[in-house]
Amino acid sequence: MDFTGFVSSRYSVRSYDPLHPVEKEKLLRVLEAGRMAPSASNRQPWKIVIVQSTPMLRKLSTCYSASWFAKTTVVLIVKGNRSEAWTRKSDGYNSIETDLTILMDHLILAAHAEGLSTCWIAAFEPQKLREVLALSESEEVFAMMPLGYPVAGEIATRPKTRKTLDEITEWL
Ligand SMILES: Cc1cc2nc3c(=O)[nH]c(=O)nc-3n(C[C@H](O)[C@H](O)[C@H](O)COP(=O)(O)O)c2cc1C
Repeated sequence: MDFTGFVSSRYSVRSYDPLHPVEKEKLLRVLEAGRMAPSASNRQPWKIVIVQSTPMLRKLSTCYSASWFAKTTVVLIVKGNRSEAWTRKSDGYNSIETDLTILMDHLILAAHAEGLSTCWIAAFEPQKLREVLALSESEEVFAMMPLGYPVAGEIATRPKTRKTLDEITEWL
């Protein structure tokens, strides 16, 4: 499959099969792809937290209320440290969100290449999540990402709803 076909075949999944666990080798390859993500000035201002234990998954589910989320068995959490990220001298722009977005994208596409599904979760309660993860002052949580196999029927043939190329391009 070419790259365009590959990215077009990825979908956010919001219902995971608890009876189909994620293989450790696949999980490690996904994490390795994340490790290879580029970051401004190669600062790598990130950490990936892998949550698999039942008590911790339960606590996580209090930070994001979607009922399907409470049934996931693996959740990756991308957190970062703003003070470790690159800052542009001329105007103070800090690259943390950009760096962490690229890391997330690497993880998501690597998971897809392994036949695993994901969903980017940003609509969590950040303060609650800070407490659950016992974050230090300097750390911030950027996104959560459940990882696993969809329940039967979940992926079907959902159409991709995207703006047309005409709508999103300007040719000068
Ligand atoms: C920055 C970002 C935040 C998102 N947050 C959530 C979220 O909190 N909950 C959720 O169910 N999906 C979330 N999504 C998934 C998007 O809704 C989804 O990617 C989009 O609708 C396109 O669908 P697709 O991923 O199936 O192509 C998020 C995606 C991105 C990129």
